[in-house]
Amino acid sequence: MTRLSPEEIRFFKKNGYLIKRRVMDENLMARARERLWENAPPEVDCNNPDTWVGPIKRYNEEGTGNVGGEYSWKYKGIGGEDWIVRMLATDPSIWGMAEQLLGEGNLVVPERIRGIYCLLPEGNIPQRPVTCHTDAHPFHLGVVGYIDDVAPNGGGFWVWPKSHRMFYYDYHTQHGNEQTEQYEKHVAFFNQQPYVDCHGGAGDIIFWHHRLGHSAGHNRSKRIRKAVLCDFCKKDLEKTTDEPPCEDMWRDWHGIHQIDADC
Ligand SMILES: [Fe+2]
Repeated sequence: MTRLSPEEIRFFKKNGYLIKRRVMDENLMARARERLWENAPPEVDCNNPDTWVGPIKRYNEEGTGNVGGEYSWKYKGIGGEDWIVRMLATDPSIWGMAEQLLGEGNLVVPERIRGIYCLLPEGNIPQRPVTCHTDAHPFHLGVVGYIDDVAPNGGGFWVWPKSHRMFYYDYHTQHGNEQTEQYEKHVAFFNQQPYVDCHGGAGDIIFWHHRLGHSAGHNRSKRIRKAVLCDFCKKDLEKTTDEPPCEDMWRDWHGIHQIDADC
């Protein structure tokens, strides 16, 4: 069973994210990759890496939520299957670490994950500007996992360390989406700051605070970036969503509230 050390918890509080290596089950990841290829857009061929380079035609499948186009291919329809929820969210190690952060018995068991999100290689297009954002929907703790290796500059999750400590106070409420006028100023500030490219291997996961500045990385590699995403929510999310940000931003993080992280 994988658990977070006090040093890792301090790192998470200070920086707003934490990478844990080789956590997800190998057999379930193999199943996820197999199912992903069965759902590939028509012009993307598993056996021909030349076809992996974007852009691809836009599509939006009725009923499944599967969408794609340009450099993105999102297999959302798979997200509600028990085994994939187990792979990323209810696996005893991952669930246990999420409970370490937010408190045992406090989390809602996710019914689904967001799905498998692919980023296609960008080929030779010019480098695009790098911008961070925070997510709009209410949740507490995000987790991103890789079901295949992700090289540096290969479309890994990009994070702006410590930005959660500013963005948390740039909203009128704890989990709502109404920003103060400081938000855009801080986005402009962090866009000039170095980000961390969370590249890694199959099975790696990244925990991230819900107000952390982040972005999908730009995939300049030759492989398709294959990630799974899920959001952990506390049972009291609805009750606390419209509260103003707390003076102590870790008040609701019962597992780590008392741990001093110099932040
Ligand atoms: Fe996002």
